[in-house]
Amino acid sequence: MASLHPAPGDFLLATCQGGAEAALVERQRVVLPGLVKAAWRRGMVTFRVPAGMPPPTPADVERLVFARTVVHSCGQVTGPDAGSLAARVHTLVGGHDWGEVHVWNRDPRAEGDPGAIRAAIIAALEPARRRAIESGAARARRGPLVLDCMVDSAERWWVGWHVADGPSRTWPGGIYPAVLPAGKASRAWLKLDEALATFGIDLVPGTRAVELGAAPGGACQRLLEAGLVVVGIDPALVDEHVARHPRFEQWRMRARDVRLKQLRGFDWVVADMNIDPTSTLAALERVVMAPGRPPHGIVATLKLPNWARAADLPGWLARVTGWGYVARARQLSTGGREICVVAERLAVSRRPGRARRRTGR
Ligand SMILES: C[S@@+](CC[C@H](N)C(=O)[O-])C[C@H]1O[C@@H](n2cnc3c(N)ncnc32)[C@H](O)[C@@H]1O
Repeated sequence: MASLHPAPGDFLLATCQGGAEAALVERQRVVLPGLVKAAWRRGMVTFRVPAGMPPPTPADVERLVFARTVVHSCGQVTGPDAGSLAARVHTLVGGHDWGEVHVWNRDPRAEGDPGAIRAAIIAALEPARRRAIESGAARARRGPLVLDCMVDSAERWWVGWHVADGPSRTWPGGIYPAVLPAGKASRAWLKLDEALATFGIDLVPGTRAVELGAAPGGACQRLLEAGLVVVGIDPALVDEHVARHPRFEQWRMRARDVRLKQLRGFDWVVADMNIDPTSTLAALERVVMAPGRPPHGIVATLKLPNWARAADLPGWLARVTGWGYVARARQLSTGGREICVVAERLAVSRRPGRARRRTGR
């Protein structure tokens, strides 16, 4: 009889954007100082969990920011072909109540075919479990047990497991599975889409959003599609389809040149400017401190001029928290060398009329 969960084991495997490994370790030293760095390759770091230390909670994993996913590592399998590797995967992890199999390449340039490898791993399962995964029945359950396989090369796979206890934990390797639909003004559409999915943000139609750094307009387009009334601030021109939208208005200027009283009354402030994070935070602060009620939420991209600046993250998050927000952050899989900060004020209605009554400053 298969047991429900494998034992947590002594090692965790964390994946990240290629190049973000040092930033991830820096962050681990801040939020999970008990872990000990072990193996390190492009796109992944493993950590040893010392005896007696409880495994990280989903909240701990989220606070790692640069980790796309963190799984309990069972080790590696090596072999000449997918069939023999798949058999070794099951020997290594044993029989459990697997609800899903996640396969992804450690390096996007790798030669592995995740779809074929997933099929080989599922084919090597006992028939009842195979049927449960193939039918998608287990996926419908909240928090199914996931068998993880990170493909290092055609002959070497890393194997582990996790419980799919949050949106990004249902995506293989924590990589957002959506692709940019045709007709969008920029990739920022997909970045905002990933941010909304990751943090479970419900945008309420009719609410007002302002974006600082709006051109060419993908993020504004995503907000408009959610039914919001949008102002885009940017000296550069926004895509003509976005510009013509009846619920859109562009203010062609730099964020700091907008008068404070014009910044009042927004429910959401989005920022995606290619400037230093401290300048982005200063621009956001003007919106938050504008007269009237503060925005309910913030979705901000902080661009890192170099990876070393990731060390400033605790101070940036503390600044947002100091404005009266609960701040969360993640390096999105659809973004570049940048961090997405999402912050929401607690106990504030997002319905346009009620929000005004309940949030006066
Ligand atoms: C990465 S792009 C923004 C992409 C955009 N969010 C989208 O959805 O397509 C960065 C933008 O920031 C704008 N920008 C840079 N500094 C700015 C400032 N001080 N005020 C407003 N916009 C600024 C640039 O003109 C540029 O269009």
